[in-house]
Amino acid sequence: MNDQVAEVKLHTDIVSIIGERIELKKAGRNYKANCPFHGENTPSFMVSPELQIFKCFGCAEAGDVFTFLEKFEGMDFPEALKYLADRAGIKLQKLINSQTSEKEKIIEINTQALRFYNYVLLNQEIGKKALDYLIKERGLTKSTIEEFQLGYSPEDLTLINNFLITKKKFTPSDLEKAGVGIAKGPNIFDRFLGRVIFPLFDHRNNPIGFAGRILPWANQDMAKYINSPETPVYHKSSVLYGLNLTRSLIKKKKVAIIVEGELDAISSYQAGIKNVVAIKGSALTEDQVRLLSRFAQKFILALDADLAGDAAARRGLTIAGNLGVEVKIAKLTSSKDPDEAARNDLENYKKDLIHAVGVWDYLIDSVFARFDANSGVGKSKISKELSPILAGIEDKIVQAHYSNIVAGKLGVPLQAVNEEVEKVTRSEVATQIIETQKPKIKERRELLEDRFLSLAFESDPKIILANLDIIISPFNKKLVEEYKNFVSKNTKFDISTFSKNLPPELFQGFSKLILDGESDEHELGLVMKELKMLITKEKLKSLATEMRKFEAENQSQKLAEAQSEFNKLTKTLYNTEK
Ligand code: CTP
Ligand code: MN
Repeated sequence: MNDQVAEVKLHTDIVSIIGERIELKKAGRNYKANCPFHGENTPSFMVSPELQIFKCFGCAEAGDVFTFLEKFEGMDFPEALKYLADRAGIKLQKLINSQTSEKEKIIEINTQALRFYNYVLLNQEIGKKALDYLIKERGLTKSTIEEFQLGYSPEDLTLINNFLITKKKFTPSDLEKAGVGIAKGPNIFDRFLGRVIFPLFDHRNNPIGFAGRILPWANQDMAKYINSPETPVYHKSSVLYGLNLTRSLIKKKKVAIIVEGELDAISSYQAGIKNVVAIKGSALTEDQVRLLSRFAQKFILALDADLAGDAAARRGLTIAGNLGVEVKIAKLTSSKDPDEAARNDLENYKKDLIHAVGVWDYLIDSVFARFDANSGVGKSKISKELSPILAGIEDKIVQAHYSNIVAGKLGVPLQAVNEEVEKVTRSEVATQIIETQKPKIKERRELLEDRFLSLAFESDPKIILANLDIIISPFNKKLVEEYKNFVSKNTKFDISTFSKNLPPELFQGFSKLILDGESDEHELGLVMKELKMLITKEKLKSLATEMRKFEAENQSQKLAEAQSEFNKLTKTLYNTEK
């Protein structure tokens, strides 16, 4: 297994795998790009062909080609391995841990169940009424039904049992694990019995679960929609319905329209608004935001007011905003929901999308619409609701802009709004909302030292040996030892070979140095100069402290020595500065 991983890695180039997915630009010996894992306009995402790794200096995502596929495509390790092996034409011996075979099995079961439901809807007498409902009452065309692979689960349980158990040889307990139904002895009781089936896919087109809607003639006391239970492949909070069909259009148009229900998405799609996904009736989650932001940096939400504005929804919106995604909210002016709008009033639907307002404007307006801004009680309520929203805006300029608007609308001094926002910012709630992992801030000297090594390894590693005195950090000292060792044994230095022979605890730090941006020819000199000056200044500082101590203790001999050292260093500093 490990051999196979190594073989696949050997026949894979991380640069082409990543380059097929995001735009890479050459930057010295590395490649760089805008990071696909967080929003940014200046690239801090680096890929090293020599080390076959990537790293983002903005959000600290890092790893090899497997990590990249796991993060970017949502593959798990065995899936990534299979994908890369297939590309490289390598046959994998049979694998793999039980977890994956379980996932694969569920997807296989779902695939078969989906074929069954779809066949019944489109081809069987027993599905005729459901098909009529979709076509005549919901206005769907046959080709839309086929494209979304809708289905129908017949009331007659023998059909599904004959197909999935007798013919396909799944066991009732397998089917239960996949969430299709409940095992009853040798039979399966279909969870979705008598419902229209909306298969749910992940963005790579694997059927991961189902939603089922009741028909108008069924007992209306039952829930209108039911969904697959959580399984190893189905997690309700990360599904974006339709994304498997719409991802490339969303990417092309650079905008994703987010609607609430399956039929909102399907009708919009059928009407030609194809860059659409549905969040299935719950608040936009962080997982959904992160996934979708890989395809577009602009979202337009065509949602119910409460779904766009309540506390749970705000969290998703805040994350989106802070990921650099532009979020707008569209208010439907002429219809109850996007489904109706797409079928009855497409022109206005499109206009409403165009007139969508910024998320912060929307949230502020919706709070002001709910309370009386003229009364004291109203002001206090508005303040309570809006302060966390304002505090959640990471960009301070944008925040100031909206604080100003709120102060104006409330008729209070800006100062008062700022103080409330400040209070929230200091409280833990806000730190949770805007929580991002910021890497530990290194001192300037440490940064310069890293940069020195990075540049030296890039241009002329021998220079390190001539400047050992500026390497102070324990990690870098170890690295330099390894380098000395390497050059004593090898006639030629190259980064790939050197890195492969590094002890694992040094590899990560080394790769960070190697990926650290590009340089121009003057930078190395400048960095060395600043580093030397900093070190000299630090020494001068501690000498000055010592001198004061010697003076107080009347240790004239030591004082004189320190003084002469001090003078020498001052001269060095002066010379370096020149
Ligand atoms: N939903 C759900 N589970 C429920 C109810 C609703 O998952 N028990 C999700 C469905 O995705 C549904 C969405 O929430 O599409 C919105 O629900 P609702 O407003 O009740 O229905 P509509 O989308 O308008 O349904 P339809 O157009 O089919 O009548
Ligand atoms: Mn509806």
